[in-house]
Amino acid sequence: MKEKSYAKINLTLDITGVLPNGYHSLCSVMHSVNLYDIVTVTMTKTGTIEIKTNVSFIPTDRKNHAYRAAELFFEETGIKNEGILIEIEKNIPVCAGLAGGSSNAAAVLKILNQCYETKLSVEQLCKIGYRIGADVPYCIHGGTMLAEGIGEKLTPLPSLPEIPIVLAKPRFGVSTPQAFQQWDKINQPEHPDTLKMIEAIKNKDLHSIGLYLSNTLEAPSFEIIEKTRKNPIPEIKRSMMQCGALGTLMSGSGPTVFGLFPLMEQAEIAAEHLKTMVDDVFVTTT
Ligand code: C5P
Repeated sequence: MKEKSYAKINLTLDITGVLPNGYHSLCSVMHSVNLYDIVTVTMTKTGTIEIKTNVSFIPTDRKNHAYRAAELFFEETGIKNEGILIEIEKNIPVCAGLAGGSSNAAAVLKILNQCYETKLSVEQLCKIGYRIGADVPYCIHGGTMLAEGIGEKLTPLPSLPEIPIVLAKPRFGVSTPQAFQQWDKINQPEHPDTLKMIEAIKNKDLHSIGLYLSNTLEAPSFEIIEKTRKNPIPEIKRSMMQCGALGTLMSGSGPTVFGLFPLMEQAEIAAEHLKTMVDDVFVTTT
């Protein structure tokens, strides 16, 4: 059985507190984008969980969220694992701030729920997903959502029309735990205006959506990046804005930058410019 596993972007990402376990409480407007991996699950008779992907450096053991998803599914349902093969055709860049791994885990949970006819509700799947990673419950739902708690308290927002998007992923990755730890050290972090973003979404006001794009993890991620290299993100953003972007932002803990464009032609021109600066550039839509 196959499932498309969509990437997400954060239109806003605010940190509202630090919890006793070191996790951070969030307030984030999240949106699915039309860039996806394809996850296929096949029954085998090996008695194991096997993962195959087209990207050599992705872990194929418990460190892979998709593996954990299968393991927890069998644990929670009490079903004996006779053996499954999870094949992941990766198109979403890895360690990129696009929730690719969480989205793969969400797809595995949905597929296994269908394959074994376990009829777990979306809420039950989200409870399992929450144990895997903070973004997994969102990925089970997808769409336009306000995510709170550590990312598991989800409120649907009105969906947006298809907005052309360019995603540019610099070659390096940013560690999510490190970005959150760096945020802890920042004295007066900037906070996005989440309410203004929600209002802009309700009004389908694309210019205001562009204006209120804001991510409190940008500053700490930039500090981490700048420890080892020249940060390419400001230049990527400038290039997108020069090509007519409504707004640009780093997604999640980065380093992927997205730009929202009024017209597909502008997005395509921006992508051509960016290909001279960045290896991974995608033109897609919300
Ligand atoms: O849950 P996920 O695997 O996406 O999180 C990776 C890391 O990011 C966590 O181990 C934690 O250090 C940090 N994190 C956090 N607060 C969140 C989500 C993630 O501190 N709400």
